[in-house]
Amino acid sequence: MASWTAWLMTVLVGLTTLVLVSWVLDIIKRWRMPPGPFFWPIIGNLFLFGGQFYLTFLELGKKYGDVFSLKLGMRDVVVLNSLEVIREALVKKGNDFAGRTHTATGDLLSEGRKNIAQGDYTPTWKLQRKLFTGAIRAYASGHALEDHVQGALNDVIAEFSSMEGRPVDVEDHIFKLVCNVSCSASFGYRYQMEDPDFQNLMKISRDFFEVGSQGTLADLYPSLSFLPTPTKTTLTNMFAEFVDYFKRQLDQHMQTFDPDNLRDITDHFIKLQKEAEEEGDEDIKSLTDTHIRQTVADILAAALDTMMQAMRWSVLLLAAHPEVQEKLAAELDSVVDRDRQPVLADRASLPYMDATINEILRFGIVAPTAIPHATTVDTTLRGYEIPAGTWIMPNLWNVVRDPEIWGDPDSFRPERFLDDDGKVLSKPSALMPFSAGRRACPGEPMARADVFLLLGGLVQKFKFRLPEGEGPPDLTPDPKGGGLFSIAFPYKVVMTHRK
Ligand code: HEM
Repeated sequence: MASWTAWLMTVLVGLTTLVLVSWVLDIIKRWRMPPGPFFWPIIGNLFLFGGQFYLTFLELGKKYGDVFSLKLGMRDVVVLNSLEVIREALVKKGNDFAGRTHTATGDLLSEGRKNIAQGDYTPTWKLQRKLFTGAIRAYASGHALEDHVQGALNDVIAEFSSMEGRPVDVEDHIFKLVCNVSCSASFGYRYQMEDPDFQNLMKISRDFFEVGSQGTLADLYPSLSFLPTPTKTTLTNMFAEFVDYFKRQLDQHMQTFDPDNLRDITDHFIKLQKEAEEEGDEDIKSLTDTHIRQTVADILAAALDTMMQAMRWSVLLLAAHPEVQEKLAAELDSVVDRDRQPVLADRASLPYMDATINEILRFGIVAPTAIPHATTVDTTLRGYEIPAGTWIMPNLWNVVRDPEIWGDPDSFRPERFLDDDGKVLSKPSALMPFSAGRRACPGEPMARADVFLLLGGLVQKFKFRLPEGEGPPDLTPDPKGGGLFSIAFPYKVVMTHRK
């Protein structure tokens, strides 16, 4: 018994010493890093955080300035909290800040960081992203995108018509709309609401959002990765279904690929990959089937939640601002005949629509801390040292809500993007919903084209208003979005056909 107690004591003393030594080493390391709040051993600064990281960053920034350090569990984190410092790091020192964090959840969901969103900044990743960007650009500039969006839009217009005049929560319909826009972009496939495959995809995607956006304990404490926690088991099972889904879609595309009939982004990607092979590009050999499957998965994984939340914000913000809606409708009527839907060629003639989309993306910024970056090398910022592998969190929220930049950032006011003649001002660098630098969203051209066609088609057909008798809507983000997403609270709208 005595020897058992002695053994336990030795282990406890050993562990405590280990924790204290690593804490002291962390404090010494912090000496040259950006300043930050006091952190405890093991938990670091976790005690400071509720759900919405970006709001806590805003408060901390008031005390520690534009760039500050935190300890989240065992992770060193540097927060970039202003437009200038974000540009200095992500743009001017782009290569140094272009890495991604290594976490148990990220590794699992990307089959070992083989997608674009989690991939390390390597020559293979650069090629993968180049092909992806090329495929998106080719797809977004052709008629396929318009045809796909309009097909998905017509289904939802029919559904909305049947719900005219009563208060409805449109979330499921928006999800289906966005899912069909993204699925047809990825695989040329559009679902009906009752399709079991669609119901399954909706369930997997929602579960992913809930579980994946919170991450697991092992993300902050890597030494716990071996533990079979319930969240890890749920993620692993969900992910197996996800991989199987993408494998089937990709196999089918490979078998039916026809270079003269490019149906969607997957086809464009396969074409660019084959061309790189023919040109003898050395890096192409390192792009495995898993990379390609993960690239295709990127389209859905990156597009679904962002587009869904952007469209939820859009409908809410328009319903809450009838005056903006009326201006949009009047502009649309002056350019687009009612017997056709808006097309991309109309964009240049619809400046108020352009300004409104900018304002929706600013006000309802869906990814307020981007996807956490990591430093690729030991580097410096504003004279502070930042070791390789430090997590970097750009607080985009603070940029799009900075009163010094925008004057009245909490007002929804598309006019801020127009000059006195009603023309769209050139895009201010502080409009950062897609982030900046090497890892900026490569889907931006497609996202903007989709939002334009969807909003244009909906506003042309319907008037959206908030149900009578309810007070003004809460336009602050719902804490359910967690640390990584800013999402609108649940809401209902009443739709009526535009006369
Ligand atoms: C309104 C819609 C969207 C918004 C607001 C948005 C925003 C963002 C943001 C903020 C990031 C993180 C950038 C960073 O870490 O610095 C990102 C990354 C990414 N987005 Fe989007 N996105 C949208 C739609 C899309 C779409 C439609 C696609 C694909 C078709 C897409 C594909 C990606 C990919 C692949 C990444 C990872 C990029 C990388 O790691 O290099 N996104 N997006």
